[in-house]
Amino acid sequence: MKSILTLITIALSLFACNAQTSNSNNMNEKIILVAYFSATGTTKAQATAIADVTKATLYEITPATLYSDADLDWRNKQSRSTKEMTDENSRPALGGKTINAADYDIIFIGYPIWWDVCPRIVNTWIESQNLKGKTVIPFATSGSSSINNSQKVLHSLYPDCNWIDGKLLNGTAKSAAEWSITVIEL
Ligand SMILES: Cc1cc2nc3c(=O)[nH]c(=O)nc-3n(C[C@H](O)[C@H](O)[C@H](O)COP(=O)(O)O)c2cc1C
Repeated sequence: MKSILTLITIALSLFACNAQTSNSNNMNEKIILVAYFSATGTTKAQATAIADVTKATLYEITPATLYSDADLDWRNKQSRSTKEMTDENSRPALGGKTINAADYDIIFIGYPIWWDVCPRIVNTWIESQNLKGKTVIPFATSGSSSINNSQKVLHSLYPDCNWIDGKLLNGTAKSAAEWSITVIEL
């Protein structure tokens, strides 16, 4: 009788162990959104590679008024982007399709670094969503700046998100894809 009980105990603990393992490996079954803003296509290429490899929904954060080349002139103090980026309360209006990010388990947010932070349109989008408690992973492209300050600002503006350390993706689309797989498995 004692040995039967021992066997049952072992079988039960093996089952429990298995159940736990399959839960912790569930990241691949999570529903993933890759939301990005890209003014000139660089961030878009990385976002597309990430969405392809993680089987995510790809969503473009689109301003109501698209940025012209003149708007993007960071050397011009009067350009639209300069005006927006020198006003931390600027929130350009959104256009394009809407999406409910709350329907997703993991949300990648991609953007070009503008003035060492994310473009204000990204703040507009985040504030239009309910990301409380969501796992959010930033990524960025840039001329040379790191992602660090932009992440720091996002963390402090939106402390309710479960921020995962993001990455500057100035390399190949292949390395962006590889990183995204690693980060969702963490
Ligand atoms: C208005 C503006 C501001 C920028 N500010 C920075 C910056 O602070 N640091 C940096 O390394 N690159 C800066 N860049 C360069 C972009 O981050 C870089 O070209 C990026 O890869 C563009 O991405 P996109 O093609 O997805 O728009 C800036 C570009 C623009 C248009």
